[in-house]
Amino acid sequence: MTHDIRFSVQPGGRLAGSIRVPGDKSISHRAIMFGSLADGTTEVNGFLEGEDNLATLNAFRAMGVTIEGPQDGRVVIHGVGIDGLKPPQGALDLGNSGTAMRLMTGLMAAQSFDVTLVGDVSLSKRPMRRVTEPLALMGARVGTTEGGTPPLRIQGGTTLQGIEFTMPVASAQVKSCLLLAGLYATGRTCVVEPAPTRDHTERMLSGFGYSVTRDGQRICIEGGGRLAATAIDVPADISSATFFMVGAAIAEGSDLLLQHVGINPTRIGVINILRLMGADLTLTNERTVGGEPVADIRVRGNGQLRGIQIPEDQVPLAIDEFPALFVAAACASGETRLTGAEELRVKESDRIQVMADGLLALGIDAQATPDGIVIQGGQLQGGEVDSHGDHRIAMAFAMAALRAAGPITIRDCANVATSFPGFVALAQQAGLTIAESA
Ligand code: S3P
Repeated sequence: MTHDIRFSVQPGGRLAGSIRVPGDKSISHRAIMFGSLADGTTEVNGFLEGEDNLATLNAFRAMGVTIEGPQDGRVVIHGVGIDGLKPPQGALDLGNSGTAMRLMTGLMAAQSFDVTLVGDVSLSKRPMRRVTEPLALMGARVGTTEGGTPPLRIQGGTTLQGIEFTMPVASAQVKSCLLLAGLYATGRTCVVEPAPTRDHTERMLSGFGYSVTRDGQRICIEGGGRLAATAIDVPADISSATFFMVGAAIAEGSDLLLQHVGINPTRIGVINILRLMGADLTLTNERTVGGEPVADIRVRGNGQLRGIQIPEDQVPLAIDEFPALFVAAACASGETRLTGAEELRVKESDRIQVMADGLLALGIDAQATPDGIVIQGGQLQGGEVDSHGDHRIAMAFAMAALRAAGPITIRDCANVATSFPGFVALAQQAGLTIAESA
């Protein structure tokens, strides 16, 4: 059973060399969605061939879109136009991907046909009312389980009305869901975000020639337009680069270059937080590729990380990076305190509890709080931890071995393939002594 994949990581060592991690997951999802809805042919390079993105790709194929590839990160999407999707044969299975499900709910609610969206065990526990409630205000008809979780049964054939919606949580998935529905709605759809969240949807809509306006924290689109195909170059995912940034930062003597990493300002919380902790990160070769800023990131392990109070304004900008950042905190001197991050409890796992349990098992004093964690830096011991099927937890604990006193075994690692195919081989190349066993 794929469930039983384990990582065994030997203690010590350092990271060195020059590597490129796979493409950005958020951008890859959106490339498939907008490319499918566009008029014309969209060529994507650097596409992330992870299971989450393949779920999105297969869902659009199931709705009649011809998609070539992926092959070596190249995908060619023959867009069917904004009204060209066809009813799929059965339910669309979105696997482990919250992004696919939340974004597609907005899009599916505006179609002329009914669709059911399903996911794996983890996705089937995740809250969907955050999208179904605002969509209902637009006139959408989406059924959830009693607990507000998938499967989602979406009725087509309704005309959506534009709304103005202030999001109670800072969520790029909710924002993007509503903007996708807004493409089809009568009038204007505006979303107000309580704090900046990743803006790949807005950037990509503009790239496809669709006007999106932003006035402070308020983002609006007018329904009824069309998308024009374009070329997309997907940068390396800063969320995947994070494991290597943390690994190099905690392992003294490391000197690692991460190539072509997306440094969109709404994604760089990890850089800001690691720098506040005293890490040595240098950005070079900064450029813009296809509307997204990119840089090479050099990380040197200086052995000088210190615990900090993580500024709350960085939380949405580093929302996927906390499992790795908690490992950095475990290796820092003094206390690291995170607050205002209750969202971490409803990710692919409860990332606060699962990380606290794992760090405790490795001899670190880590106390979960309702909205964060308090970690006392110390000496990581060897031991066994459970990732609870969460890709980012598995990869974070793999890096922890660089500073552990003994080997670390991590259970339930199959889902690393959702976001980071080839992680083990790349980590080996960079200097981690990691083995995978079924
Ligand atoms: C994502 C948004 C974030 C993030 C997720 C990807 C996106 O979720 O955690 O991995 O691509 O829009 P939230 O919107 O729930 O914060």
